[in-house]
Amino acid sequence: MNQGHSSPSAPRAPQPGKGDSRRDFIWLTLGWLASLFALGASGFATLRSLVPNVLYEPSRRFKAGRPGDYPDDTATFIEEVRLFIVRKGSTYRAMSAICPHLGCTVNATVGKHPFLCPCHGSHFSPDGAVMSGPSPRGLTWHALSLSKDGRLVVDLDRAVTHDKTLVIQA
Ligand code: FES
Repeated sequence: MNQGHSSPSAPRAPQPGKGDSRRDFIWLTLGWLASLFALGASGFATLRSLVPNVLYEPSRRFKAGRPGDYPDDTATFIEEVRLFIVRKGSTYRAMSAICPHLGCTVNATVGKHPFLCPCHGSHFSPDGAVMSGPSPRGLTWHALSLSKDGRLVVDLDRAVTHDKTLVIQA
């Protein structure tokens, strides 16, 4: 028997050496990279929190024509913005032609309730109040003013009650 000598194929106990220090180095590097990533993500989140979550949209004010462009006792349709300029004598108002039911464009007709939605038949009075049909409310009136160069200015971002009118004396 050959006691006292270990055979070449016998398992050896792990000894600290080159392999362990390489493994430690890799773990240390991964740890540093994870820390740097966490620091970077936290820094980005902090900087992002300084930027307000606000969408800046352009103003929806626009210039329409001059008061004299709108004949008395008429509702003139402006197709691009789906709006009526309503004139009665010296009073002017801007009324949306967008039906509150599902957004179809309301037509001006003749009769007691001169605004009619062709989609589901809602009728509106001259003041835009809903008289019949499925519309849940009346047509929206928008703020109207006069610019320095004498043109009507409609503010689509500002709704007003139907009794708010712009009076322009000739
Ligand atoms: S969309 Fe006008 S009545 Fe339905």
